[in-house]
Amino acid sequence: MSPSGTPILEVENLVRLFGDRKAVGDVSFTVAAGESVGLLGPNGAGKTTTLSIVCGLLRPTSGSVRILGHALRADDDPAKARFGLVPQELALMEALSARENLALCGALYRMHGDALAKAIQRALEFVGLADRATDRVSTFSGGMKRRVNLAAALLHDPEILFLDEPTVGVDPQSRNAIFENVEELRRRGKTVIYTTHYMEEVERLCDRVIILDHGQVVSDDSLKALKSRVSAGFELRFELDGAEPRDLSSLKGLAGVRQVSWTNTELRVQVDSMEDGLERVLAELRRAGVHFHHLDSRRPSLENIFLQLTGRNLRDG
Ligand SMILES: Nc1ncnc2c1ncn2[C@@H]1O[C@H](COP(=O)(O)OP(=O)(O)OP(=O)(O)O)[C@@H](O)[C@H]1O
Ligand SMILES: [Mg+2]
Repeated sequence: MSPSGTPILEVENLVRLFGDRKAVGDVSFTVAAGESVGLLGPNGAGKTTTLSIVCGLLRPTSGSVRILGHALRADDDPAKARFGLVPQELALMEALSARENLALCGALYRMHGDALAKAIQRALEFVGLADRATDRVSTFSGGMKRRVNLAAALLHDPEILFLDEPTVGVDPQSRNAIFENVEELRRRGKTVIYTTHYMEEVERLCDRVIILDHGQVVSDDSLKALKSRVSAGFELRFELDGAEPRDLSSLKGLAGVRQVSWTNTELRVQVDSMEDGLERVLAELRRAGVHFHHLDSRRPSLENIFLQLTGRNLRDG
């Protein structure tokens, strides 16, 4: 689904090869000003490669990107001052203080003097680290480093923010602080492109979700539309007796069964209705001689959408 409003970012038929490996294969999407878009996919899906190309850090093999209305021309393109990237890998100097790190970043945006000092103070206050401004980054927790990384991208008050897995490896408290920061940026009307492999993060922070897998867009929809796709039906979870490998694909052909996945010890079946679905599944398990010792049912989660689209779980890698 294409967003309404003026596109602030247009990605068209993007392809990036690394040798024979296709990291990004024909990816297209647009983002409207003020939208908050989740770029969701498992490890290796092509999220970072896509962002790197969009931000002008990596050349595409083919395809084009228009950001803020035009293609980035060179490293000193003035449009670069209108977006910020929070990279997946921390880009901080451990031996320097938080303030010194931000001063270095500010210099890259040609900020200096009083304006830079004020911007650093503002950014540190925003991420809740103003009281640690003069401490060395090497003394910070993983979550605090992530927050400095975020502050660095905000120094020049960009209109568009690209966040590449900003909560990886952080404690729940810092994670929540980062969520609150992103929510505040949204309230301020910033456009946010948020990369993650956690469905619950996009549920909280995004209005739209682009799902990438193996370098391809497998779904591009509003969160509301995605939710309506999973709201119908139930998921049955069986804990199986024994742990021998088995083939349960015969369940897939049953009427009213939408989706089936299993491991040696657990079976998950999504059914349209509890009454008919459960009965058919139980009959088939009996016929196949499969025994179980526990069964529960729940409404399917958004994670099921990913499984449905790709046949694997988001964090299978
Ligand atoms: N510099 C590189 N050289 C060779 N292959 C690369 C390079 N960068 C990425 N790749 C490959 O491209 C594919 C996509 O990688 P990318 O980093 O974009 O995935 P990702 O979705 O960001 O994954 P993750 O969730 O693990 O960060 C992977 O198969 C990866 O090995
Ligand atoms: Mg990545």
